[in-house]
Amino acid sequence: MSIEIVRAEGYDDLSRRAADLVAGCIGSNPTARVLIATGRTPIGAYRVLADGVTEGTLDASGITAYQLDEYLGLGPDDRRSLGGWAVETFVRPLRIADERFVRLPLAGDGALDEYDRRIRGDGGYDLSILGIGENGHLGFNEPPSDASTASRVVELTPGTIDANASYWGDAADVPRRAATVGLRPLLESARILLLASGARKREILERALFRPVTPDVPASCLQHARGEVVVIADRDAFPTGSNGAST
Ligand code: PGA
Repeated sequence: MSIEIVRAEGYDDLSRRAADLVAGCIGSNPTARVLIATGRTPIGAYRVLADGVTEGTLDASGITAYQLDEYLGLGPDDRRSLGGWAVETFVRPLRIADERFVRLPLAGDGALDEYDRRIRGDGGYDLSILGIGENGHLGFNEPPSDASTASRVVELTPGTIDANASYWGDAADVPRRAATVGLRPLLESARILLLASGARKREILERALFRPVTPDVPASCLQHARGEVVVIADRDAFPTGSNGAST
């Protein structure tokens, strides 16, 4: 297991590099199981990938896309649906059929346990595209979360509610509970791509990659990932403990 840390110049460079890596994975495995984060960070990479599809240099129609997390308690057409956000920014622009987008079952932990079993039975995710929260979360694996956590329902922390308020207008608009793919299935991915942009991510990235693994920084579990981890950070997010080499 290794973590490769790539320094991108700015957000556009990060997006281009991330898209290159994802396109390479799809090129070598056109039926890959790809777990996709929403949030602001990966959107630029999704746009570059969509351009590739439009220009005919990328065919993503054979992959299966999997939802990373979702708020609970929303109606089917709620503007805040993270599944809806994934469809708008990834599934449709990459011309992936709706039935090849697998949503998290929201009926409770029993359904999520079954979901984890099915993914594991299929061989796990081939690629997980993730962002990182300022509190170190991956998906909605809020601190404390350790490497053994299954997919489950969680209460969002005040920090995440504040951070997500910028997506929807106000903290009052952010649901308090969510479902998330757990750290265990994430860490079993054959490959993980973690994207971080901006100075506000620098300190947590440093703690996740260069300090001891702790449930208080869920992303630090990446140090125990089963497969290959590639972190692409732009200039402002690039951890000071890194010289650009692999850890
Ligand atoms: P962001 O969210 O990409 O909008 O910064 C990342 C996250 O909270 O995981």
